[in-house]
Amino acid sequence: MSNENNTILGIDVNLICEFFLNTERQGPGSPEVTLKALSFIDHLTDHSRIADLGCGTGGQTMTLARHAPGQITGLDFFPGFVERFNHNARVLNLQERVKGIVGSMDALPFGEEELDLIWSEGAIYNIGFERGLNEWRKYLKTGGYVAVSESSWFTEERPAEIHDFWMSVYEEIDTIPNKVAQIQKAGYIPVATFILPEYCWTENYFTPLVKAREIFSRKYAGNKTVEELISFQHHEAELYRKYKEFYGYVFYIAKKIK
Ligand SMILES: C[S@@+](CC[C@H](N)C(=O)[O-])C[C@H]1O[C@@H](n2cnc3c(N)ncnc32)[C@H](O)[C@@H]1O
Repeated sequence: MSNENNTILGIDVNLICEFFLNTERQGPGSPEVTLKALSFIDHLTDHSRIADLGCGTGGQTMTLARHAPGQITGLDFFPGFVERFNHNARVLNLQERVKGIVGSMDALPFGEEELDLIWSEGAIYNIGFERGLNEWRKYLKTGGYVAVSESSWFTEERPAEIHDFWMSVYEEIDTIPNKVAQIQKAGYIPVATFILPEYCWTENYFTPLVKAREIFSRKYAGNKTVEELISFQHHEAELYRKYKEFYGYVFYIAKKIK
């Protein structure tokens, strides 16, 4: 989440937003993974209300909309992403069922027990996994689902370099069993967990970033902030290549029981 200086990891959020407008996805994932997570969710109808929190430009939302019935609200905190989201919905002729709105996941504009499904790919970390699960629960109907992807450790122990990196960017990263216990404690039945395949990071996330970086470094040649953003991304990709057996994204699907 950004702070009062409007920075993420010390980098101006507007620049980050502009950068990611040049990419289809803003985090690791794939349409196959979105559909796999969706396959664990039952009872959706044309009357269902779905929210995609931290939707970005809506890559995963449009996949969801083409395979699930109901009304979908995408919510993101960057107006530029929401504008692109609504444009994408219009291009796919989904605008009657899919709407993007600007908002924050820590102050949701939904009524209590209004939603059948809360979706959030690679975004719950902005509020924190446990806080998100606890706070979002009241917006779900009994029997409603939450489906989120979240960075997780695959092993109990790991090399100091990757441990320290994650402690500096997201201290709440944890093992899958610990995340599942948090889900249970927050009042849901854990329904499924699965690890996102490697191509979701490499082909679908890191590779498109290379082109976006080329565009950006031409436009902002010599800009220190842009250089920092690019060097952070190189570091992130390099760490993934080196330590991918120790961490990754995991999809967690859970049901609100009462
Ligand atoms: C890593 S991106 C994931 C985007 C998208 N779900 C995807 O998988 O491509 C995280 C998203 O969370 C959004 N975000 C950050 N803080 C937020 C907040 N407090 N409320 C809503 N969205 C937020 C960012 O603008 C960004 O679009």
